[in-house]
Amino acid sequence: MNETRKEIAVDESELFRQLEYMHLIRQKNDEYESETGKKKKFYSLAMGCQMNAHDSEKLEGMLDKMGYERTDEEMEADFVIYNTCCVRENAEQKVYGKLGWLKHYKKDKPDTVIALCGCMMQQDTVLKTLREKYRHVDIVFGTFNLYKLPELMNTRMESGETVYDIWQEHEEIVEDLPSIRQFPYKASVNIMFGCNNFCSYCIVPYVRGRERSRSVEDILAEVQKLADDGVKEIVLLGQNVNSYGKSLDEPVSFAKLLRILNEVEGIERIRFMTSHPKDLSDELIEAMKDCHKVCKSLHLPVQAGSTEILRRMNRHYTKESYLETVRKVKEAMPDITLSTDIIVGFPGETEEDFQETLDVIRMVGYSTAYTFIYSKRTGTPAATMENQVEEEVIKDRFDRMLDVLNPMIFDLNRKMVGKVVTVLAEEVSKHNEDVLTGRADNNALVHFKGNKDLIGQLVPVKIVDNKTFYLIAERV
Ligand code: 5AD
Ligand code: SF4
Repeated sequence: MNETRKEIAVDESELFRQLEYMHLIRQKNDEYESETGKKKKFYSLAMGCQMNAHDSEKLEGMLDKMGYERTDEEMEADFVIYNTCCVRENAEQKVYGKLGWLKHYKKDKPDTVIALCGCMMQQDTVLKTLREKYRHVDIVFGTFNLYKLPELMNTRMESGETVYDIWQEHEEIVEDLPSIRQFPYKASVNIMFGCNNFCSYCIVPYVRGRERSRSVEDILAEVQKLADDGVKEIVLLGQNVNSYGKSLDEPVSFAKLLRILNEVEGIERIRFMTSHPKDLSDELIEAMKDCHKVCKSLHLPVQAGSTEILRRMNRHYTKESYLETVRKVKEAMPDITLSTDIIVGFPGETEEDFQETLDVIRMVGYSTAYTFIYSKRTGTPAATMENQVEEEVIKDRFDRMLDVLNPMIFDLNRKMVGKVVTVLAEEVSKHNEDVLTGRADNNALVHFKGNKDLIGQLVPVKIVDNKTFYLIAERV
């Protein structure tokens, strides 16, 4: 065993090294299967954003290559992996709660291996808590070394001890990891990693490092491969896609990247997230307008409506400049829908500030809003700001905000009734097996009667009715 490790250690290619470990573990799992007649099973949970969901597809791809079979029943798993989030405190509490449960599970099934990775693991306080109180965890790694899972599993198997491997930063991007895509017809594609913005409430820049863009060639090759596999819709992922390409040796704008990807044969739809309002250029608006595959929906997190709160959030735009950007976007693409993220209860937020947020909501008319109660994140500048808002006040504002948002979303959906739209049929409805659900170009959720053979196809439908959060349609 040690000899094999030495051979691996001298190999220069990281990916190749990991493939060797995958092979090694596969052999062990094959032996286990021939002895017991059973395959080892993994349970994988991605918490938080789409970036994490996409990272988990890679983790699952590696586990599959190592001979594990996926299970959705955590109680059946031999290997449990949580890809964690730390953007808000409740996401962290959920992990600790689940770890408490796993402690009992492991008493009955001591061979179960528990792995934790992702954003939460990049925080020293979390590592300290794990070391002190959750010693039944076996493997801990972070956001920069996801690709090392096979090697860390091997180390755990050989040493029998908990493996901690947390890096502070990593320049290199390891390409071509195996991956199990969640859907055959749509796929996420990372175009960049990290964030340079340091919004004062946000922990992301501390746990995902500085901005790094993938090269156009690597992105294009991945998208072409996806198209060859039958993927129709791609979602380009980055914390701030509008600053894509700035750090490349030969800088390329995000607008240019969209124009290049728009030419890939087989891909029918292109979405992207997230756009920072401060970086949304006229060049990008033009590219969105010109590229027929780029969906006419835009996620543009406003976070707050008050210019003073935005200044303290370190967002680098004002209420007026945000509204001006929205005006330009709507002028160029009148049918576009806008979605947003809003935080209620940022330190020092007064009733007047909150009214400014309601004002923006009314002026923009969002089709979807992800609304959050401010969560104090240790290590961020906002955590030590004075005038933290009382919980009661925040809850009241939050409810009042939904009272403004929901009827507006309902009205927007009602305006769609009578229109013919194209829907990418995604899955059978959980409530009715004769009904399919999918998304229109403008990201509206649509339900319509149809056979499951249509899944993965672009289907023209006519909207006949609406609810608050989805539309009902018939095939035309
Ligand atoms: N508290 C509440 N919401 C937050 N977000 C980021 N950090 C915090 C925090 N500390 C929200 C922002 C961001 C989204 C992904 O999460 O709205 O856009
Ligand atoms: Fe967080 Fe702001 Fe970066 Fe988004 S842009 S990840 S909110 S720091």
